[in-house]
Amino acid sequence: MKKINILGICGSPRKDGATQLALKIVLDDISSISEIFAVDAWTVHGKKISPCIHCDACIRARSMCVIKDDHKEIEQKILNADAIIMASPVYDMNISAQLAAVLSRMRPIYMVHSGILENKVGAAITTGGTRYGGMETAKYPIINFFLMNGMLVTGGGGSCYLGGSIWSQDKKSQGTREDFVGLETLRQLAKTVAKAAVISTLGKDALSRQGEIIGNFA
Ligand SMILES: Cc1cc2nc3c(=O)[nH]c(=O)nc-3n(C[C@H](O)[C@H](O)[C@H](O)COP(=O)(O)O)c2cc1C
Repeated sequence: MKKINILGICGSPRKDGATQLALKIVLDDISSISEIFAVDAWTVHGKKISPCIHCDACIRARSMCVIKDDHKEIEQKILNADAIIMASPVYDMNISAQLAAVLSRMRPIYMVHSGILENKVGAAITTGGTRYGGMETAKYPIINFFLMNGMLVTGGGGSCYLGGSIWSQDKKSQGTREDFVGLETLRQLAKTVAKAAVISTLGKDALSRQGEIIGNFA
């Protein structure tokens, strides 16, 4: 079986933060399940990612975003991934501005790479300083991005519901290490993502061999 590319995107602008460690734990767990998974992590930390300015240059040129900065590298990684795990710190019960910019700048994907993310797997992780400060609401923009692109969102796994959640108590990576309940959500998420990514990859291969059925979906 071909390698399955699992991409982790960290939306925290901080090094050694709670979010970066939460994502690493999930990616390491997935790697340890099978060599079939090729994991890759990318972070907004230290990157220049301007927000979308709705210039519509992408629409006119039928191209991906024309702003020249570090977004290009994550754009390519998103296009090549078989499964994407997006992790964000909770900012005002939402995702970070940096991650929001990454997502909105993918706007022309529907036009330039139509259907490229369809039936690939998506999962969300959030870390919040307050126990009930929006870890669930902050997952929605991530999940909405996946749904908007026809991706298959996974979570559940007995304890993780919408995805991985870490109550960091604003203690950066130490907060992740100390949140034993939250760590269990990460362990479960790693299993559900790994399983879903195999099912998605095998399912898409099988579907592509069913020419006459595909024709009916067009
Ligand atoms: C601008 C800002 C807004 C925040 N808003 C929230 C919030 O609404 N709810 C919450 O639980 N924590 C909030 N936090 C705390 C962070 O979500 C928390 O410390 C997080 O774990 C940081 O992740 P990091 O260490 O990976 O950067 C906020 C932090 C900042 C800087």
